[in-house]
Amino acid sequence: MLEATFTKVKISKDLYMIKAGDLKTTFFESLWEIPEGITYNSYILTVSEGIVVFDTVKNTMIDEYVNVLSEVIDLRDVKYLVVHHMEPDHSGCIKKISELGEPIVLGHPLVGRMLKSFYGFKGKFSPVKDCEEIKVSEYTLKFIYTPWLHWPETMVTYIAESRALLSCDVFGSYGVFNATYYDELPEFEKTKYRWFMKKYFATVIGFYRDWVIKNLDKLSSLAIDPLVVLPAHGLAWRNRYVSEVVGLYKKWSSGRSEKGKVTIVYLSMYGFVKKAVMDFAAELEKRGIKTSIYEFTDTRRSNISDLIGDIYDSEVIVLATSTYDADAFPLARYITHLISRKTPREKKILILAGYGWGPRAGLEIRNILTQAGFSELKVVEFPAGEHHEVMSEAIEYVK
Ligand code: FEO
Repeated sequence: MLEATFTKVKISKDLYMIKAGDLKTTFFESLWEIPEGITYNSYILTVSEGIVVFDTVKNTMIDEYVNVLSEVIDLRDVKYLVVHHMEPDHSGCIKKISELGEPIVLGHPLVGRMLKSFYGFKGKFSPVKDCEEIKVSEYTLKFIYTPWLHWPETMVTYIAESRALLSCDVFGSYGVFNATYYDELPEFEKTKYRWFMKKYFATVIGFYRDWVIKNLDKLSSLAIDPLVVLPAHGLAWRNRYVSEVVGLYKKWSSGRSEKGKVTIVYLSMYGFVKKAVMDFAAELEKRGIKTSIYEFTDTRRSNISDLIGDIYDSEVIVLATSTYDADAFPLARYITHLISRKTPREKKILILAGYGWGPRAGLEIRNILTQAGFSELKVVEFPAGEHHEVMSEAIEYVK
């Protein structure tokens, strides 16, 4: 398999994108399955007064990154290295770039401490204030704090003269594509890309969705009018598509569900819960209700990243589990925990639990969700093999 690809693209007169495609990372953040891969996008502003590098890439790609960067610039000429976010998928090569020249690293005040602790950084660091502007040749760089998108130190940069918003994690996505801009994709790939983006939003940004609303309001209150949005993951957005990507973020951060969308997750040790779910889904289908099903059995495991992405805007979630050691099945506990962290609360959740010698799992799952603030919950527990006895009660709740 191709493990890493680097492309450099001229975005505007003096602005370049260096895109590192990562198909080697199987679990993003050691957590989320990403068979579609991910890119880390670094940006370079090349002006005679001094070059500005915005973000770097993951430290597994240091040598390739330095080589590609060197094709565009002389690293000794880097005047500023702007850090939008210290998560190591972007900050992994800061120390190396600092050692190859003498750049001043600019970022939120928290960045200074993180640079030292993460990398033993000994170079020059200068904190920037919220909405501070600096002039580099004819370009004005405005640094705008966007806290909790995705860490507290996160900020974006608006380059006024290019009308470019360098947005780091914000408006980012999973997926490695040959295109640079979203509008270059054919329609079927646009649909696929929006799914990757929603999955990224749900898994990485979803926990901070209230901060998305606050930060979008903040950006729209400032005198900025981007013509191009340049995230640090995935594709860039330009012209009329800028309002489309902002619209997607507004929709997802609102937590609104898609009407009629039902997603089923089941964890079945010996097949009883699976049989219950299959019968349940068939009954729903007879009533015109389609479902997406994620399964965890002794032979199959769905991707949890897909599950979290799909559940995010579902109107109804059905969580079905076996009972294990008088508790919820361990993987059901884990998935419920992720749902409780990443998913908007305005949903109806049916907890179906099968048991051998005694009910308990349903109550345990309900406790996790209740404590997390979910309120529309129903528990239906059944002895393994006897799910038909509770089917109408379960169907009645969901339909
Ligand atoms: Fe792409 Fe939060 O790092």
